[in-house]
Parts: sequence; C-alpha cells; structure tokens
Amino acid sequence: MNTKTNLITLADGQQMPQEGFGLYKVTGQSTISAAVASAYRAGYCLFDTAQLYKNEAEVGQALTDLEVPREELFVTTKVAEENQGYQQTIDSVKDSLHKLQLDYVNLLMIHWPIERAFFDSWAALQELKKQGLTKSIGVSNFQMIHLQYLATQATEMPVVNQIERHPRLNQAPLVKFDRDHHIVTQAWSPLGRGTILNNPVLREIGAHHHKSPAQVVLRWHLQSGVSFIPKSVHEARIKQNMDIYDFELSDEEMARINGLNDFHRTGKEPALVYEYNKKW
Ligand code: A2P
Repeated sequence: MNTKTNLITLADGQQMPQEGFGLYKVTGQSTISAAVASAYRAGYCLFDTAQLYKNEAEVGQALTDLEVPREELFVTTKVAEENQGYQQTIDSVKDSLHKLQLDYVNLLMIHWPIERAFFDSWAALQELKKQGLTKSIGVSNFQMIHLQYLATQATEMPVVNQIERHPRLNQAPLVKFDRDHHIVTQAWSPLGRGTILNNPVLREIGAHHHKSPAQVVLRWHLQSGVSFIPKSVHEARIKQNMDIYDFELSDEEMARINGLNDFHRTGKEPALVYEYNKKW
C-alpha cells in the first residue's frame, strides 16, 4: 500500500494504515470525488464510510474513478442499527458492496452496540468474513462492558474498535483495554469535529513546531499508538492533516495534551445507544 502513514498489523494478520480519511457528513458526488482524489494524492489509502452516512454509492464511484489496483485501497464500512440482526446484516452488507462497487471491504464494523441484535449481528460479521466479503471485522463505539459481553459468545473478537477520541475525550482506560486485548483503537472525530482547534495549549505547542493545532492533535494520536481518520473537504487541510510525519511531540507535550481531557463527547453515549437500540 503506497501510503504516507504507518501500516499497523491487526490481530488477524491484515495490515491497516494508521491514518485514514473519514467521510462522515461528506455528501454529493462532486464533493466526495474531489475529497477522495485529493486524499489519495496526499497519501491516504484508508477510506472510512458507513451505511449511516448514506454516501457509499458516491464513495464507491470516487474510488472507482481513482483507477488504482484494489490492493492499494483499504475500505471500511459499518452496519447501521436499522440493519442489525443476522440476515439483515448479511443482506445490507451485500447491498453496501454493490454500492461501493467492491467484491470485499477491508474492514467491516458494527456501527453501534445495540441490545436488540447484539450477538446476531456479530455472528453475521463472522460469517461475512468467512465468505471473503470482508478481510477483517471490528466494532465501533463499544465500551469495555460490550467487549467483555461479546467475548462470551464470539468465536473471533474484533480487531479494531473505532471510538470517539480527541484531546477532550482521550479514552485512556478504553485505549489500554483495547491494547491489552489486541484490538486496535481507531479514533473517530479525531479533531473533536474541529471544535478544539482554538485551544491555547494546542496553539502554543503548534507554534513551537511550526505546525497547526490540527497537526499537533493528529501527531498526538499517532504517538498514542491509535489509528485515526480525520476528515476535511478542503484540499489544503487534507494535505496538512497528512503532513505530520516530520516532527515529534516530547513526553511533556504529550502529557499536556492528555491533560486536556474533560470527558466532553461530541457524539452519543454508547451505553444509552445500547439501551435504546438506536443512535437517534
Ligand atoms: P472542513 O471539512 O471544512 O475542512 P473531525 O475529523 O474531528 O470530525 O473534524 C472534522 C472537522 O474539522 C471538519 O469540520 C473540518 O472542516 C475540520 N478540519 C479538518 N481538518 C482541519 C484542519 N487541518 N484545520 C482546521 N479544521 C479542520
């Protein structure tokens, strides 16, 4: 994979780029095509979509238009709550593959843990992997309790757990739990949806390294050993967010950024989504 970022070897032996490109809330064929093309040119190979984003068809077209060998891409999608359950998951993933114009995805995830179909959806992912429709299986928004519960019935465990993570929600205990269980943590909203970028600590550290606050945050993710998937629809920012491989944060700077944690969530609380069986 011709990527500018590191490759992480997952517990199932597959390789995944550490930095990827997020496509949440990116809509419209021309916007998606331009963003995906800019990202690929800038060195991103991992593209992260989901059934919930309602853009799989546009992402599929944008990836097709790149005209690059399939092995050069790492494509992730996720099963939405409404499609959870054994057969619905299988059917919806086949529909996702059709929209994405792909024979397989690299990583397939349960988007949110829900009580209604907790084990059945996971059983479907295990089956889809067996059939070769995905290389790896993972989860998103799982808390420790969900992972422990899943382990009571799973024949194989997720290799990735994609969770909200940024300096205001650094998720240190869950990141450690994931690591201890050979699960790679992947940060969604790694920039806190852009809301943390005015923070004076991040600005000061950025000024010291001649980097933007966004680059400081992404470098913090990198040095924390997690995967991360920033998004932007602006070419300059897409490039900037990949330009984080020529500087290093000191231990003290890492500690200062860790110190910004105040448990602020931009998204939903996973325990409530589990209980209510849906995100909205
Ligand atoms: P835009 O798409 O207009 O560039 P997250 O990945 O945490 O969800 O954050 C995404 C948000 O952060 C988007 O609103 C995006 O805006 C903004 N963003 C992405 N990269 C940068 C950057 N380098 N500098 C400032 N804002 C950024």
